[in-house]
Amino acid sequence: MKTRKIMLTEKEIPRTWYNLLADCPFPPPPPLHPLTHEPLKPNDLAHLFPPALIEQEVSTQRFIPIPEEILEVYALYRPSPLVRAYNLEGALSTNSKIYYKNESVSPPGSHKPNTAIAQAYYNKIVGVKRLTTETGAGQWGSALAFACNYFGLECLVYMVRVSYENKPYRRSMIEAWGATIHPSPSKLTQSGRAVLDKDPDCPGSLGIAISEAVEIAMNDKQTNYALGSVLNHVLLHQTIIGEEALKQFELVSDYPDIVIGCVGGGSNFAGLAFPFLREKFAGKNLRAIAVEPTACPSLTRGAYTYDYGDTSRLTPLMPMYTLGHNFIPSKIHAGGLRYHGAAPLLSLLVKEDLVEARAYHQTEVFQAAVTFARSEGIIPAPESAHAIKAVIDEAKKADEEGVTRTILFNLSGHGHFDMSAYDAFFRQQLEDNNFADEELQKSLAQLCDLPTI
Ligand SMILES: Cc1ncc(COP(=O)(O)O)c(C=O)c1O
Repeated sequence: MKTRKIMLTEKEIPRTWYNLLADCPFPPPPPLHPLTHEPLKPNDLAHLFPPALIEQEVSTQRFIPIPEEILEVYALYRPSPLVRAYNLEGALSTNSKIYYKNESVSPPGSHKPNTAIAQAYYNKIVGVKRLTTETGAGQWGSALAFACNYFGLECLVYMVRVSYENKPYRRSMIEAWGATIHPSPSKLTQSGRAVLDKDPDCPGSLGIAISEAVEIAMNDKQTNYALGSVLNHVLLHQTIIGEEALKQFELVSDYPDIVIGCVGGGSNFAGLAFPFLREKFAGKNLRAIAVEPTACPSLTRGAYTYDYGDTSRLTPLMPMYTLGHNFIPSKIHAGGLRYHGAAPLLSLLVKEDLVEARAYHQTEVFQAAVTFARSEGIIPAPESAHAIKAVIDEAKKADEEGVTRTILFNLSGHGHFDMSAYDAFFRQQLEDNNFADEELQKSLAQLCDLPTI
């Protein structure tokens, strides 16, 4: 019998996160204060985040120790398996080798708890009582609800309305872990009311939900805000994925030629790819591919400039690829990829050609998801299926070129709560949105009063 799963023991969970800022060949431009447009000072974030996370946000220390209390919660589902996808290879009749890191094994079903646990812990130890957050597909909201429950914190989640309506069982999951959840835009915040006044049927966006969650945290001393992606400290916590994968490849004396991940804000991609990029910076020959939806193409069609992380202009200005903070993506089924921007660190790597970016339509993505489900057995999250589509294309390309490549991707989550999306695919009801250039230019024009890089 072939060995499919390459496993580490709990004792072998890496003890440090990897901070790419220590090795990044290009200095990232600083984030700016949302009102003064001056470089942000760490203290400017003190009303939202605890000191340890602010320190991590700006740290240039290469390896950051993971506290024992966090490792103990990680051990509920980590180390995650590295799997050789023999069946997918067979289904594609490819000569290439395909591996995936299975992050769907966490209790909420995705990579998101890797940072939710860390963020809940660092807030808990400084006496914060409640965390607020946004969620798109519900994976991040359920991860934070799970982590807050573990550390005895209250949790308040604003869920993008279109997902709130399409994914009722993600809502129930969030409530099962004791959190409170509202659809966004809501009438409970100024930000939400402003959007609803203009468009009472607004489907919502991550940008709007972030504004609502940040507004609540800004107005309540006992409440902090937690972000599920984009920021340096979130990407940092996710590097546990790539650090494990490096050890797992060592066990089978193999190494990837290509590392692939889907991108919403960039955290699962960064989590897997950054530890490998460290080795690329040191001379390894390796390609990294970031995959996004054509309906929300920040990396492939956005502008590299300063923009707000949210719709109401409450967050700092971040140097990133963006479609404009007012951009509301069409209602595609990969809710977790409907974000107008991308992590500043990932954006910088794409700009400097150290990471490739590409975009796919949702129909071809669901076709890839079904190919994976019918070969490897796991029904992937629609977000993760973007990575699978790129894997399939890369394997085919290698065969056409007559070469054998080793391809690694991040299975960032399972799709058990996304069955209505699969249903729409099987009924041929999915629409492929061609995001018009005119619409893009209109959205980017709203950035004209902001500083450029
Ligand atoms: C399963 C899954 N994968 C990927 C993403 C995209 O987020 P990120 O780019 O931060 O990994 C999400 C976001 O909700 C998700 O739920």
